[in-house]
Amino acid sequence: MSESSEIARLREFLTELIPSEDQFQRLYQNFCTQIRKGLGAKTNKDASTKCYLTYVQDFPNGNETGNYLALDLGGSNFRVLLVTLKGDHEADQVSKIYQLTERELLGTGPHLFDYIAKCLHEFVCELKLENENLPLGFTFSFPCVQTGLSKATLVRWTKGFNCSDTVGKDVGAMLKAAISRRVGLKIDMVAILNDTTGTQMSCAHRNPGCNIGLIVGTGCNACYTEKVENCERLDAKYKDKPKIIINVEWGAFGEKGGLDHLYTEYDRVVDKNSLNPGAQIYEKMVAGMYLGELVRLIMMRAVKENLVFSQCKLRKHITDILTKRPHCIESKVLSEVANDKGDDWPVVKNVFKQVFNLKDPDPKDCMKFKYICDVVVKRCGNMLGVTLGALVNKVGESFSIIGVDGSVYRCHPNLDGYMRETLDKFVEKDYRYDIMLSEDGSGRGAALVGAVVYRDYMDKTRLK
Ligand code: BGC
Repeated sequence: MSESSEIARLREFLTELIPSEDQFQRLYQNFCTQIRKGLGAKTNKDASTKCYLTYVQDFPNGNETGNYLALDLGGSNFRVLLVTLKGDHEADQVSKIYQLTERELLGTGPHLFDYIAKCLHEFVCELKLENENLPLGFTFSFPCVQTGLSKATLVRWTKGFNCSDTVGKDVGAMLKAAISRRVGLKIDMVAILNDTTGTQMSCAHRNPGCNIGLIVGTGCNACYTEKVENCERLDAKYKDKPKIIINVEWGAFGEKGGLDHLYTEYDRVVDKNSLNPGAQIYEKMVAGMYLGELVRLIMMRAVKENLVFSQCKLRKHITDILTKRPHCIESKVLSEVANDKGDDWPVVKNVFKQVFNLKDPDPKDCMKFKYICDVVVKRCGNMLGVTLGALVNKVGESFSIIGVDGSVYRCHPNLDGYMRETLDKFVEKDYRYDIMLSEDGSGRGAALVGAVVYRDYMDKTRLK
């Protein structure tokens, strides 16, 4: 069979992963419906995107100063930071990463929070700050119902976390309790925020036009600035300020069927094998935790149908690995192979060697593997562009900046372009947008939320 007809067969096999214009249109409409429902008081319970109120209503102006502690929990590790805001849009920070093991991810809530308090204690002692009583912002990147800036009830775990005795409880209270169990540790927790909010705030610190925050990392989610009059669930006492950041929690989109028209058998298996079947449907199509798995499942079927490795003597062995080893293709592989220019395929060959112990692959198989990875990432980027387009239109400003963070966005060379492809189609003609990479949104954002809370408090006391 000629090379071009082989590629044509593979392309045909992958068509269900290449959405049509109509399918993107439906995605757009379904997503807008869910956002409307999420914001409405009566409809919120039926919405997949819960549009959580963050209570962040003040935005940085770049003049913020002072020292703040920040905790960042939400990905594969946990960080503690000391952020120094220096005015003039500048900030410095010192941070330390602490590894999380299965004991923390899947153990009890008190164990997790005691571990966090221990790391925090070590960190402040190392910096000789243990007697300072610094304000702390806690970036906790999981769905939470907030009833104020420092009260957040955990709705569910995502991204491979599943600690017992935590869902339905106030995360802030759990952290405070763990801090008070540690003799000698004094911390003033002033705010709990999502990483999307942190990212938006950190970009707004540089450029006040940033009104959308996006994370494409282990998990995926977005937030945006909404007018208070559109937030039916917001108590009247918060309506003297014009705007509030809404944490969309769009990872859950699809739980009410909004993505059925794009769903493939691969998505179904990823969901079935996950810790949270039936939940976080959109996230499982676009986030780093799942992209490698999608490629593994597609490869498994492609090998079975003789579309890849058809002439390879290790075919059976490769099939075995793909079948028996979930997660054998890591998501970072998708970014790496995208950088392989295809003359002699050094990156793809290395992946094949690591994963399948295959030493001398056929260049055609290298090209096909890169193509499969690309189809998965393009679907992800294009879908993200559609839902981001909906948010740009919802914000309704003539110019919106989308602040972005997350390992997948940072590392993949083509994701930004794929997002822009559909953003350009869906953003209405009166609006323009740009995308800005955040500088450590989770850390700096937490400090900034702390700083604007403090500024607001000082303003109010001065008025009295
Ligand atoms: C969480 C979000 C978070 C996102 C990115 C999702 O799994 O539900 O709260 O913003 O991951 O970290």
